[in-house]
Amino acid sequence: MGIKLGILGLGTVGTGTVQLLLDNVGRHSLLRELEIWRVGVKSLDKPREVDLPTGVITTDLESIVNDPQIDIVVELIGGIDRARELILKAIANGKHVVTANKAVISRFGAEIFTAANKAGVYVMLEASVGGGIPVIQPLKQSLSVNRIHTVTGIVNGTTNYILTRMQTEGSNFDDVLADAQKLGYAEADPTADVDGWDAADKIAILASLAFGGRINREEVFSEGIRQVSKTDISYADKLGFVIKLLAIAKRISPLSPSSSCPTLSVRVHPTLVPKTHPLASINGVYNAILVEGEPLGQVMFFGPGAGAGATASAVCSDILNLAARLTSAKSSSSSSNIDPLLACSHQDYCPIAPVSELIVRFYARFLTKDQSGVIGKLGTCFGKYGVSLESVVQTGFQGELAEIVVVTHDVQEGKVKQALDEIRTMEAIHSIPSLLRVI
Ligand code: NDP
Ligand code: HSE
Repeated sequence: MGIKLGILGLGTVGTGTVQLLLDNVGRHSLLRELEIWRVGVKSLDKPREVDLPTGVITTDLESIVNDPQIDIVVELIGGIDRARELILKAIANGKHVVTANKAVISRFGAEIFTAANKAGVYVMLEASVGGGIPVIQPLKQSLSVNRIHTVTGIVNGTTNYILTRMQTEGSNFDDVLADAQKLGYAEADPTADVDGWDAADKIAILASLAFGGRINREEVFSEGIRQVSKTDISYADKLGFVIKLLAIAKRISPLSPSSSCPTLSVRVHPTLVPKTHPLASINGVYNAILVEGEPLGQVMFFGPGAGAGATASAVCSDILNLAARLTSAKSSSSSSNIDPLLACSHQDYCPIAPVSELIVRFYARFLTKDQSGVIGKLGTCFGKYGVSLESVVQTGFQGELAEIVVVTHDVQEGKVKQALDEIRTMEAIHSIPSLLRVI
C-alpha cells in the first residue's frame, strides 16, 4: 500500500515538489511508494505546470487535512493564520506534516510542536531555512553532540541576490527586486524579505535547534536592506568588506550545568563582512549557514536558498524521512522492519568508467630547449592525436630551459598520453614536470 500525500499549495514550491515526485527515476526508490492523493489550491482556473489526474486538485483544503486516507500533509501555501490552522488540524487528525513555512513555525512553533508531540506525529521543516540546503536535519542530528556557540547565516536569497547585483553591477534596488520576484525567490509580499523579517524567522528556527530552547520571535531584532546604498557598498569595498544581510544567533551566557537554555543574542542586520570571511563569497540567491561549536569547530552549509527545484529537494527529503518511518512501521516482517534510509539496501555494483576514458581538460608544463619552433612542434603533435589546445604560453625560463604551459580543451586522457609519449621523444623537449587535470 502506498503512502498518500495531501499537498496544500501548488505555487512555486508546490509545483517544484509535485514535479520532483512525478519524475522519480534515478532518485531514492522510496519515492515510488508515494502517491499524490490531493493538492489544494486557491483557484481552479489558474494554468498549472503539472499534469495531475482529474479530481486531485481541489480548493477544499479542509477536506485534505481531514481525509482519513492521507498519511502526510505537505503545507506549501505560505502565510500565517490559514497555514497554522491547517497544520494544527492535520496534526489533530494524526497526520505527519511537512512545511516550508518559516513564518508560521517561528511564530507558532511552540503550539504546533506541543500538539504534534501529543498526537505522536512529526512536523518536518527542512525547507523552511536555506531553501535546498540541508541544515535542519544536521542541527537536529549530526551536530547535536556539539556545544554550539554561534550560528551565522545568509539565509535570505532575495536580499543576497539584490545586494550581490548592487555590488557587482551597481544596479539599483528596485530593478533587482523586480527580477528576484520574477525568478520566484521573493515572498508574495517582498517586504518580508527586504525588511529582514524572513531572515529573522529563519534565525529564530536555527537558534532554537542549535541552542535547544524556544525563541520568542518578537525578541529577534531585524533591520533590512532598504537603507543600504550603492555608496555604502562602494566604500565598504574600498575598505575590504562586502555588505551582507546576516542573521546571527550567539550564546552570550557562559555554559552552566543548571540552566538548559543559555542567554542568546539573535538578530538580523546588514553587516560589513571582511572579504576573507567564509560568508563574504556567498553571492546571488545562494545561502550559507556557518555553525561554530565545540569540538567540531566551524562547519558551513552552502547552497541555493530559494527557488522551486531547490526547495522541492528539501520538502521531498522530509517526505522521504517520514515515508521511511511509515514503511518500516507498516512492515510486518521483522527482517524488513528497519528504516530504509538508515539501512543499506544496495545489491549491485555500479560500473566505473576507466580514468583513461574520461573526458577532461589537462594542464601540462614542459621544460624545453630554448629553440625557435618548439611551441609549433608541440601544437602539431597534440593536433596529430586529436588534442585541441585552449592556451599555450611560454611562462619564462628555468636556467637554460624555457618553460611552456599548455591547457587543452576537453579530451580523452588516452589521447593526451599518446601525444605526450611522442612529445617526450622530441629532441627539443627536456622534460614534462607536470600533468594535471583541470576541472
Ligand atoms: P506561492 O505564492 O508561489 O504559492 C502558494 C500556493 O498556495 C498557491 O498554489 C496558492 O493557490 C496556494 N494558496 C495560498 N493560499 C491559499 C489558501 N488560503 N487556500 C488555498 N490555497 C492557497 O508560494 P511559494 O510556493 O513561493 O511558497 C510556499 C511556502 O514555501 C511559503 O511558506 C514560503 O515561505 C516557502 N518557501 C518558499 C521558497 C521559494 O523559493 N519560493 C523557498 C523556501 C520556502 P493558487 O495557485 O490557486 O493561487
Ligand atoms: N523569499 C525567501 C528568500 C524564500 O528569498 O530566501 C526562501 O525562503
